[in-house]
Amino acid sequence: MNDFQDNSEVVSSYQSYKARVGKEKIPCYEPSIGAEELALVTDVIKRNWLSEGKYTREFESQLAAICQRKYAVCFSNATAALISGMKSLGIKEGDEVIVPSFTHSADPNSIAVTGATPVFADIDEETLCLSAKTIDVVKTSRTKAVLFVSAYGNIGDLNEIENYTKKNNLFFINDCAPALFGTFKGKPIPAYGDFSVLSFFADKTITTGEGGMLLSDNLELINEANIFKHDGRKERGVDTIERKGYNFRITELQSAVGVAQLKKADFFVKRKKEILNMYKEKLAGVSDAKMFEFNPEGDIVPHRIVVFVPESADLISHLSSCGIGARTMFMPMHSQPAYGAQKEFLSTQKIFSRGVCLPSAPALSEQDISFVCDSVKDFYKKKKKNQ
Ligand SMILES: Cc1ncc(COP(=O)(O)O)c(C=O)c1O
Repeated sequence: MNDFQDNSEVVSSYQSYKARVGKEKIPCYEPSIGAEELALVTDVIKRNWLSEGKYTREFESQLAAICQRKYAVCFSNATAALISGMKSLGIKEGDEVIVPSFTHSADPNSIAVTGATPVFADIDEETLCLSAKTIDVVKTSRTKAVLFVSAYGNIGDLNEIENYTKKNNLFFINDCAPALFGTFKGKPIPAYGDFSVLSFFADKTITTGEGGMLLSDNLELINEANIFKHDGRKERGVDTIERKGYNFRITELQSAVGVAQLKKADFFVKRKKEILNMYKEKLAGVSDAKMFEFNPEGDIVPHRIVVFVPESADLISHLSSCGIGARTMFMPMHSQPAYGAQKEFLSTQKIFSRGVCLPSAPALSEQDISFVCDSVKDFYKKKKKNQ
């Protein structure tokens, strides 16, 4: 029996997604949760306090310390943190915010929610991120901020972005949603920018299922963002509505999972780096599949294992037939129906057409990784034979 007795388009598209993903012997990613998370969630249930509570405050204070930020505030997801942070900076209709086309839809969507216009820019092919050069091409007198994105955990020259935004009197917003535990020149990636955001979606280094965090050293910004998060009030239980706000709170159940995940963070970080190195070794010498090199000036925790191939769609469909979950990279935002711009961003388009994300869950065994790499090698061997 189907999960839902309904023939709507939404349900049939969900069913086909589920059928496709369900066939994957090696999924592209899966979270590692277990007894530690269960114990803390059980504690929350016993305490009978389900909205934000002591675990939420603990999760925030641990992350503020890890990220070397004065303040950290939990949100229901990174998108909510971005919207609240930008509104707190006063970004509004008539303003422009520069954002890479090569990113998650959360970035242009959250800019649009503030009333401002997302202005797309190309990326640097070496880093997959914005650079001062790509930003400068699209800057206008209405530009208020640069929304820098750590693509797949990687970063460009954050000092250059810091200097550029300062010199041009722009806000530096740091979407490092997938880059927790990474550093650039010895400083945590989330420590850069007027504010930064993290995501705890199920595919991130630590997860709460859904969840996000806003981090900053600016108390005024944090207080404003907190008001947007609490329905326009300073806190739950307060009746005065200071702003037109939202309910962007996380739950105590999720925060408890986050606290448990943090206890295992060293393992996740180590494992992600080991997995990257195993792929590098096993795919060395495969001329059709070049591993992406993360920024050597940073100590990067890879969000995904990325390879560049002549044509991503071919390899993805072959791997899918082998039961391997491989995915494309970010589909360029400037060509999405919601944002359709008559523009060419050559590096963005090239990276999208060639990039493939290979399985990278911490629970993968070396045997799993060998199977993925052998499947990649077989595909290109057969292709050469048939040429
Ligand atoms: C770069 C980037 N920004 C923002 C988001 C959105 O995060 P969330 O789903 O927590 O809103 C993601 C999610 O994967 C992301 O990769």
